[in-house]
Amino acid sequence: MIEHQRTPLYETLVKHRWKGATSYHVPGHKNGNVFYERGKTLFQDILSIDLTEISGLDDLHEPGGVIQEAQELASTHFGSRASYFLVGGSTAGNLASVLAASEREGPILIQRNSHKSIYNGLELSGASTVLIAPRYSVRTGLYHDLHVEDVIEAVEQFQDASAIVLTYPDYYGNTYDLKSIIDYAHQFDIPVIVDEAHGVHLHLDPRLPSSAIELGADIVVHSAHKMAPAMTMGAFLHHCSSRVDINRIQHYLQLIQSSSPSYPIMASLDLSRAYLASLDEKEIGRILERIETERKLMASPHHYEVIPHHATDDPFKTTLRVQEGYNGQEIARRLEGVGLFPELVQDSHILLVHGLDYSELNTIEKRWEKAHNSLKSMQGNHATIETEVMNYPAITRMPYPYQQLKHWVTKEVTAEEAVGQLSACSVIPYPPGIPLIAKGEIITEGQINELRRLQQSNLHIQSSECNLQKGLLIYER
Ligand SMILES: Cc1ncc(COP(=O)(O)O)c(C=O)c1O
Repeated sequence: MIEHQRTPLYETLVKHRWKGATSYHVPGHKNGNVFYERGKTLFQDILSIDLTEISGLDDLHEPGGVIQEAQELASTHFGSRASYFLVGGSTAGNLASVLAASEREGPILIQRNSHKSIYNGLELSGASTVLIAPRYSVRTGLYHDLHVEDVIEAVEQFQDASAIVLTYPDYYGNTYDLKSIIDYAHQFDIPVIVDEAHGVHLHLDPRLPSSAIELGADIVVHSAHKMAPAMTMGAFLHHCSSRVDINRIQHYLQLIQSSSPSYPIMASLDLSRAYLASLDEKEIGRILERIETERKLMASPHHYEVIPHHATDDPFKTTLRVQEGYNGQEIARRLEGVGLFPELVQDSHILLVHGLDYSELNTIEKRWEKAHNSLKSMQGNHATIETEVMNYPAITRMPYPYQQLKHWVTKEVTAEEAVGQLSACSVIPYPPGIPLIAKGEIITEGQINELRRLQQSNLHIQSSECNLQKGLLIYER
């Protein structure tokens, strides 16, 4: 068997299953034999490999057998120094990376549109934080253009930074000149941690934007479950240089992750790596062609624009930009009504995620036909919708390190009163899970207006520690 086709963890689990062994160990479903009848048929296959750290099955937290072998195959495939399986998603990898990096002196520079796991890592570590805001993109209507000059300026200002944490690509598949940032940061010996949750496939082909590992990042985190065929919560952390101490990363990973990691999730990581490795140039070409065909099927004359792909865009993401007078939520309901379920729906944009797949499009073709028929009857409100473009300052140093905030008293105030105050909670529209207001920053009027707009459009907004109906939580200074 060719090396990359080996799936040592998966194969060992299957071998154990065929033994028909008596389980005198956890989990309590006893290889799927003890289970509530209603769900047994559906769950049984997967439960038969839902095992634990018994003989021969290794231990994620101290690997020396099949898990180690599977991780080494992943490392060879992705080109890292070492790769680690994560069973708590990229969330676990981001937390561990930020906690390890925060052990150095100096602030951590992050993108404002970082996932909440990065902010949570900073809060746990108590680190001092600098936010770098991406700019509004006229091309896409989204806040996702990270300007290299802004990051370079932040590095100039904070040369003692303990790390830069970047998101690449973002939720919408947008990338930027990561190489210039990495090269610049390395001149100051600042490690660059890349949350590449959405980019596990980027290394597969030169027609895709380059991957963060290829570009020289120090730590890279991949949600295998997002873009590769892996089970939800399956992710990788790749260690790529000595700038971040791998022993500290390992320490935090075992601290954050369950002591009973899921074997089905780990086996799916083993299989997903083999799947990625099995795709050749021709197959990727066929997948890309299929995506192009699908994008043509989506095109709508009135309701939205299928945003054209640039060379910096991941072609596996399609963003529909809703035309004035229409509403993304209403369009999405029509799509769902014919069996087309998007990844993310906003008033102004709908995000669709393509799979690593080139099978027949017959069903999809019919569904888009039905979708267009359904959309025909949709009445647009042709009044212009006022969308306020928010102007975040390019670089914001959070006034206090998270460590200091832990001891301060908080109080609830109305949205009006909150302007100019230090936020004691994060306000996070979900998805994409990017804080509109980050805990520890001074609240601006623009943020409050944006919050009202999102609330009016019924978007799900998560808010740690404050009830938005009642008001916002601020620190009393
Ligand atoms: C940019 C980014 N990073 C990290 C995460 C967390 O990934 P996971 O769901 O694998 O924990 C997400 C999830 O949506 C994300 O969008």
